[in-house]
Amino acid sequence: DFWAVVPAGGAGTRLWPLSREAAPKFLLDLTLQGRSLIQATWDRLLPLTTPSRLMVVTGRIHTGAVRDQLPDLSTANIFSEPSPKESMAAIGLAAAVLARRDPEAVLGSFAADHIINGNDAFMSAVTEAVAAARKDFLVTIGIAPSHPATGFGYIRLGESLGLDNAPNARRVSQFKEKPDARTAAAYLATGQYRWNGGMFVVKATFLMTLLREYMPELHDGLQTIADSWDSDEATRDKVLDAIWPTLPKIAIDHAVAEPAALAGKVAVVPATFGWDDVGDFSSLADLIPAEASQPRILGEGSLVVTDQMAGGIVVPASGRLIACLGVDDLVIVDTADALLVTTRARSQEVKRLVAKCRESG
Ligand code: GDD
Ligand code: MG
Repeated sequence: DFWAVVPAGGAGTRLWPLSREAAPKFLLDLTLQGRSLIQATWDRLLPLTTPSRLMVVTGRIHTGAVRDQLPDLSTANIFSEPSPKESMAAIGLAAAVLARRDPEAVLGSFAADHIINGNDAFMSAVTEAVAAARKDFLVTIGIAPSHPATGFGYIRLGESLGLDNAPNARRVSQFKEKPDARTAAAYLATGQYRWNGGMFVVKATFLMTLLREYMPELHDGLQTIADSWDSDEATRDKVLDAIWPTLPKIAIDHAVAEPAALAGKVAVVPATFGWDDVGDFSSLADLIPAEASQPRILGEGSLVVTDQMAGGIVVPASGRLIACLGVDDLVIVDTADALLVTTRARSQEVKRLVAKCRESG
């Protein structure tokens, strides 16, 4: 059976002060279409499975908000983490529980905070990925790269797997998570690389096998948690609270995808759908239509008055009027308790700025 798992966590600090600890990116309606990113993810996954096989793994502090936003998500399918441990523990927890219940279970992990256009192409890519996963591969979805981004994983395409029911699936000969700018540019020049789309399709038991090999400590911890998962709530929480803090904090890309690719165990299905991870305000600006001489506005348009301001993005989220004159390509995000002003070109660095704000208290 196919299970869709949505790990929903992460700091999302590149969209600060719009996204906050209490209101991370996946809970926000960044496309202004009335659905938050996690709600849009839910809508996209439903045709692939049933609500009873859709799971969300999120931090305890976000469980209430996730439940409010996804009323059809069954309570048994919200896994609450005591603390953030990055994506490996989150996805691994789902895998450990599913592997115990059903040795044939295939899980697809889908980021909670991406924008995808082209649902049919998305479904057919996932269907191929599931077929390849049944042959014991960790299957990724490859996005055609447009620039030497440093915030993504890069996968080098290998030979075709030659599967009838997954004709586009290929082996991955190398997986490199977040290379530096020079390396990314060199990869791009070869024409052999794709971005990792942040989606992983894998048999739950096979992911546990990979974890046992590459992260034995994490494997054993997750196994102990999974063994108590279907007992009474008090026992489960006791085991979870005892073990979770001891688990290593690491992303699935570093923990498993990189070493498994070297061992020939990673595959990729190239995507033909539109994909955006809305990683910073500049990519958010690209999603909002605007006239050439005007900024892109996310929110209440009547709160922004410009005489001249081209290319930038303004987020009026404080209720205050914002007036701009002759400042092109700026990013202005005004919230009740924090105001960000930067340029589109430097919007990737907001993460660093947020760390600096935290340091200075
Ligand atoms: N439950 C839970 N707990 N989920 C988490 C946690 C956590 O502590 N940390 C991250 N996640 C979730 C995020 O919400 C997201 O859905 C997914 O795991 C990936 O985490 P990100 O923090 O967004 O990773 P990234 O964007 O830096 O990199 C990943 O995605 C890129 C594509 O957007 C990698 O897979 C890259 O290789 C990939 O290119
Ligand atoms: Mg991300």
